[in-house]
Amino acid sequence: MQTTLYTLPAYPRLEEHLITDVAVVGGGMAGILTAFALKSEGLRVVLLEESRLAEGATAQMTARLSAQHGLFCERLLRDFGEHLARQYVMAQLHAVKQYRDLIAALGVDCALTDATSRICAAPDGPDLSREYAAALLLGAPAELQTVSGLPFPVRNALCFINQASFEPVPFLAALLPGISVFEHSPVRDIRGHTLRCDGGSVEAAHIIIATRYPMLERWGLYHLRLRQEQAFLLALAGAPRLDGWYLDADTQGWSLRQRGDTLILGGGLRRVGETGSDGFNALRRQAALWFPDAHELRAWTAQDCVTLDGVPYIGRYSTATPYLHVAAGFGRWGITNSMVAATLLTAEILNRHYPYAEVFSPDRFFPSASIEAMMEGAIYAMRGKKRRLFTAAERETAAILPGHGGIVRHHGKHYGVYRDEHGVLYAVSPVCPHRGCALEWNDAERTWDCPCHGSRFDYTGRRLYHPAKAALKSFDAAKL
Ligand SMILES: Cc1cc2nc3c(=O)[nH]c(=O)nc-3n(C[C@H](O)[C@H](O)[C@H](O)COP(=O)(O)OP(=O)(O)OC[C@H]3O[C@@H](n4cnc5c(N)ncnc54)[C@H](O)[C@@H]3O)c2cc1C
Ligand code: FES
Repeated sequence: MQTTLYTLPAYPRLEEHLITDVAVVGGGMAGILTAFALKSEGLRVVLLEESRLAEGATAQMTARLSAQHGLFCERLLRDFGEHLARQYVMAQLHAVKQYRDLIAALGVDCALTDATSRICAAPDGPDLSREYAAALLLGAPAELQTVSGLPFPVRNALCFINQASFEPVPFLAALLPGISVFEHSPVRDIRGHTLRCDGGSVEAAHIIIATRYPMLERWGLYHLRLRQEQAFLLALAGAPRLDGWYLDADTQGWSLRQRGDTLILGGGLRRVGETGSDGFNALRRQAALWFPDAHELRAWTAQDCVTLDGVPYIGRYSTATPYLHVAAGFGRWGITNSMVAATLLTAEILNRHYPYAEVFSPDRFFPSASIEAMMEGAIYAMRGKKRRLFTAAERETAAILPGHGGIVRHHGKHYGVYRDEHGVLYAVSPVCPHRGCALEWNDAERTWDCPCHGSRFDYTGRRLYHPAKAALKSFDAAKL
């Protein structure tokens, strides 16, 4: 769901063969910023977007321009050591400054507002003093503060001062002039330096994959190194105003962010395919408790990729493909990391030094940070495959109530069936077209979700999220 009233201009479909310096695939925050950075260096850039610009994860986010990415400093120090942990923090702080400078230089009115970022600990929550010490050691503008004005008790908060919030879409609009943009032009394949779309192709000296989930599976094994997580969000009117934003120290917990007159309450973070709890209802109960006078304007979910060790993959796509570059795995912190991607990848293509590149290198592997996440990924993949073969919870079509869905077995075959409020049935294949995992029905959003790599489909089978490239096969439900 689009969360702002701003819109970007429409661009044509690619219908020709083009030769260019750089082709950027993916027109979200990362792709547009990177295309802009390269264009600003005098390179010819073609930007190819599957649907419309900035309507992917970039449209769903809460738009905190912050270098504070949860409780991350102590973890980075432990997993990466001080040198690389400092690189990460410095890259993020530098990115916040780059935004401020760019917005001023372009004169964009994008509601840039200074803000303090706060991670709050409940009275019985984690002790923030070690994270505070780690943040100071790494050079972050951290402070431990008491917090008041929230409708629940907070022991203290670890704050990053001098952060900001802004509206991404008007900002992105100011970057587009001078870039050759093509919408409704999904890149179907890349062979060598040539990208193929339905209506045309592009030959580029360098290719940047900024599709949030890397679209090429021939190299890099990204499907083994990324998981997708989603969070639930409510926009509330009539709640007391808050300044800055607040996150619960518990990563599964709530987040609060004032956006204009609206308060955005987030929570229910989970791995895609982890169904069972209704994230919206849990959030609505929380909203009623904390903000009884507020009313709901919108409800939506947002989804992002997370790497094995929590640091994005930005750099060469694989050692075998020096002309291919990637920016992925922003882990819900895509604003500063998109700026990092734009700066790092521009330096990489122009053979310039970028002082913080090493920590983002896509071919790194830190066993202590990665093995647990790899095991968890393997368990999810096994669960998806195993359900397909043996254990899918099956029922009769008649047992599917209006507004609900589930797996139905008919003449020995499995179908994913949803019945809408008017009793109309929809039947699709419950097998993910990506790598064949069994899909889970998500009652809260009426979607079919894949526990293996996070693809999602609506109840008609339309693909909502990659890495699956195709829709689900649909069937005549009247025959079931
Ligand atoms: C709940 C939540 C809140 C968040 N809030 C914040 C926040 O406050 N601050 C922050 O920094 N980050 C936040 N994020 C993270 C942020 O939303 C993402 O990291 C960021 O938007 C990712 O940008 P992107 O350009 O990589 O992806 P996207 O915006 O998804 O762009 C990728 C684009 O690639 C296109 N594409 C895919 N495949 C192809 C293809 N084959 N050919 C052509 N185009 C293709 C897609 O259509 C899409 O437009 C949040 C995320 C979540 C889940
Ligand atoms: S099998 Fe990979 S997303 Fe479904």
